[in-house]
Amino acid sequence: MTAAIIDGKGFAATLRERVAALVPAFEATAGRKPGLTVVIVGEDPASQVYVRSKGKATEAAGMVSTTHRLPDTTTQDDLLALVRQLNADPAVDGILVQLPLPKHLDESEVIATIDPDKDVDGFHVVNAGRLAVGQEGFVPCTPLGCIMLLEDRLGDLSGLNAVVVGRSNIVGKPMAQLLLAKSCTVTVAHSRTKDLPEVCRRADILVAAVGRPEMIKGNWIKPGATVIDVGINRVDNGEGGTKLVGDVDFASAAEVAGAITPVPGGVGPMTIAVLLRNTLVSAYRREN
Ligand code: GUN
Repeated sequence: MTAAIIDGKGFAATLRERVAALVPAFEATAGRKPGLTVVIVGEDPASQVYVRSKGKATEAAGMVSTTHRLPDTTTQDDLLALVRQLNADPAVDGILVQLPLPKHLDESEVIATIDPDKDVDGFHVVNAGRLAVGQEGFVPCTPLGCIMLLEDRLGDLSGLNAVVVGRSNIVGKPMAQLLLAKSCTVTVAHSRTKDLPEVCRRADILVAAVGRPEMIKGNWIKPGATVIDVGINRVDNGEGGTKLVGDVDFASAAEVAGAITPVPGGVGPMTIAVLLRNTLVSAYRREN
């Protein structure tokens, strides 16, 4: 293996500590702690785990964590009413509605109902628009975490060729916007891209966010490139259990790349750390 391993887990721990260290100063001036409220509907086990970790991390950072657990039978009107109540609550700086929602609920309408200035996930169209035109807003946590790792590794990103594989609203599109804002030359590739390996081989920065286990192979990677693997895929481990793998075939990629994020322990831990950062930023903006 030649690639340096990008320690997202360590970086995220430092970011969480930095956020926690700033909370007392906010509390001293505002007379309250920053507050993050998470709403979860239904019993999806993976979502339950995520929401518990978010709550623990929020408390560990010295902020107020509130979780609303709603049953599967919750109606759209009930959920919208709760979101509106949280919009109006001055103690709530960040609102996060855990996705996916049960099928009978309309996710876009729920996200559109969140006050954009409390949308610490950065999913509201107003925040997507602000990102696209370079205005201050909230940026989705995972792509913002990727940019932090890239700048920590590479410094100035300007002029670099960046290829983002995946075009989701949550990762691929905002990732492309952020890289463009850093003056990268950005290509967004996806399932219909012709000769994807050839496109990937042009990348100085390769961001994989497709949700296909180990799809991107070492011979798709330019020697020395920085590889950010956003994928979290649970697969058979061949011994009757399961394991987590990324969208990049780590073993072959690490032979070629200059640096690479592992799965787990790379991008994943950054998401919650950035969520705490966004919540503190929201708290400060709302007090000023
Ligand atoms: N489900 C999986 N990841 C996320 C996230 O970052 N935010 C929300 N709201 N739901 C998710």
